[in-house]
Amino acid sequence: MQDRLEEMSAFFNARAEEYDVRHTGGIDAGEESKRLLASFLPEGTRTLLDLGVGTGLELVEVFHRFPDISVTGIDGAPKMLDKLRERFPNQEIRILCGDYLAADFGSGCYDAVLTAMTLHHYTHAVKLALYKRIYDALTDTGVYLENDFMLSASEFPDPQREEERLFAEYEALKREQHLPGGAYYHFDTPCTVDNQIKLLLAAGFARVEEVWGVRNNITLRAYKQEV
Ligand SMILES: C[S@@+](CC[C@H](N)C(=O)[O-])C[C@H]1O[C@@H](n2cnc3c(N)ncnc32)[C@H](O)[C@@H]1O
Repeated sequence: MQDRLEEMSAFFNARAEEYDVRHTGGIDAGEESKRLLASFLPEGTRTLLDLGVGTGLELVEVFHRFPDISVTGIDGAPKMLDKLRERFPNQEIRILCGDYLAADFGSGCYDAVLTAMTLHHYTHAVKLALYKRIYDALTDTGVYLENDFMLSASEFPDPQREEERLFAEYEALKREQHLPGGAYYHFDTPCTVDNQIKLLLAAGFARVEEVWGVRNNITLRAYKQEV
């Protein structure tokens, strides 16, 4: 049984110092996944919304490929955002500290939306509602890139069963620890790749493709319109 669950932003605030090392070296193809993300953005991307931007590891290559890109980054953990500012002292980034599940993204204003390693803590219902808002926030030719911990059929004989087991464990821990509802706690509840794709299509995306993956570290690209 794991230690006490920690509220999401408190968890990341407490780990901001060691975050970069853990997430490039400590997870499957961590460094590669951050580095490659920029290559999956469409040619000519001018505006990008990065949800759960954290310390901005994935933005290094984004700025290399698109030096003039306009980036908006949202994150709930102020200490992660301090690291982001330290990483890019000369880059203009619109930084918003807050909950991306509640933030207003606007409509039709981003060429691309990106989430990297931030959504594997949320239920289908929460993701579906977020995906619909991401869809609305994109321009007609926009794409959404999701890199995350997903349950791959190559790694689990029955990924659906593993997904259900993890969600049940999370609910049991919350009950045991008498944690109030309405808050989110750090506990990994990745979904199967199939469920991820179904949720994105249900949110309205015209097409979803798996563009990269190493073990359970997967990147999906969702197109607002068929191209
Ligand atoms: C594992 S880190 C990923 C950071 C960065 N995208 C990367 O790939 O290195 C997850 C980040 O998502 C943020 N996060 C999780 N849920 C959030 C929410 N609902 N609103 C805002 N930020 C959130 C956390 O604070 C944390 O900085």
